[in-house]
Amino acid sequence: MSSTNGSSLCRLGLIVTFAGVISLSVVFLWFPPSNNCPLPLPRPEQYIPAKNKSSSTEAVEDKPILLLWTWPENYRFDLSDCKKLYNIDNCQITDDRALYSNADAVMVYHRGISWDLSNLPPSPRPPFQRWIWLHMESPTNTQRIPGLENLFNLTLSYRHDADIPVRMRLTTRKKPDEGFVIPKKDKLVCWIVSNNAPSTGVGARNVFYREFSKYIQVHMFGKAYATFLDYSHYYPTMASCKFYLSFENSIHKDYFTEKINGPLAAGTVPVVLGPPRKNYENFAPGNAFIHVNDFPDPKSLAEYLLQLDKDEEAYSRFFTWRKYLSPTPHLILQNQEFVLAICTACDHIARHREYKEAHDLYKWYFN
Ligand SMILES: *[C@@H]1O[C@H](CO)[C@@H](O)[C@H](O)[C@H]1NC(C)=O
Ligand SMILES: *[C@@H]1O[C@H](CO)[C@@H](O)[C@H](O)[C@H]1NC(C)=O
Repeated sequence: MSSTNGSSLCRLGLIVTFAGVISLSVVFLWFPPSNNCPLPLPRPEQYIPAKNKSSSTEAVEDKPILLLWTWPENYRFDLSDCKKLYNIDNCQITDDRALYSNADAVMVYHRGISWDLSNLPPSPRPPFQRWIWLHMESPTNTQRIPGLENLFNLTLSYRHDADIPVRMRLTTRKKPDEGFVIPKKDKLVCWIVSNNAPSTGVGARNVFYREFSKYIQVHMFGKAYATFLDYSHYYPTMASCKFYLSFENSIHKDYFTEKINGPLAAGTVPVVLGPPRKNYENFAPGNAFIHVNDFPDPKSLAEYLLQLDKDEEAYSRFFTWRKYLSPTPHLILQNQEFVLAICTACDHIARHREYKEAHDLYKWYFN
């Protein structure tokens, strides 16, 4: 009996258990717990509306805003080029004037300012905001618009002593580059001249050139001459010449930029006419270029180049620097003229927040 009772009790227990399991399963299937359980309360920051909370968006909000008050010369480019070309991504560049009161810096292009100053950004300016004076011309080609002397916070120029100096620099390399090969040459001396307007100060270089070209053949290219050079031919043409005339239109401290960077990047020896040799050597090694002032007259320079044309070994010594320094080709399309300047300004305002006033603008610039 006890055994039968025991076994029937056991059977009953099993049935009850089984029924229990089935009914619980049914309950669970009909009302899955995930739908029934109250959700945990969101923490306050999760209430931030539908906005995208990816880290890159947050970073954009933190990035200082650089407002281009006008596009220099109306040469527009894609603002994402700063990241693409120079890996500069630490500020937000905009041309949207609606962002004026929130802009950390405003870039004003000197040549775009009207003589009555009526197209400057409005006053009062936000107390945190810095105005950048953007100007890449030499003093010879600069108009003294009155009223700008004590208006800006930062200067941007090719000048090394500007608050934001802009130029392509040669960079050092630790591991020597043994692979550089001098490009094939089929011309001796070349010169690309795009501007020959006497008002821009080209007199000195033209006097030198007239005398120089009596003794050596010079291949001329550019807008000012019959052979217009397409942009895509700029570097290949330059590379095909042994020497390139890097003659500046006017002579000022630090005023040599793409005219020397082009040949250095292309693998050509620049023959420079501009400020003294020592000034060039602030930016390029002395054995990378020839300075016209190293010769008593144009004729002896021409003779020296003709002699180097016959002496491959001596010529190749102008490229020894390539082993431990790297050049960077500059951008050559017209609408890219200010890309480096604008991107460099962006990088500067992201790294510097110091208070600064730029006083006596012209006293600094014209000295
Ligand atoms: C959020 O970010 C993702 C990925 O970057 C993007 O595809 C999506 O469009 C963004 N949504 C909003 C509302 O900005
Ligand atoms: C910027 O320069 C102006 C003019 O000198 C000055 O009044 C202003 O306080 C400066 N602001 C900043 C943030 O440097």
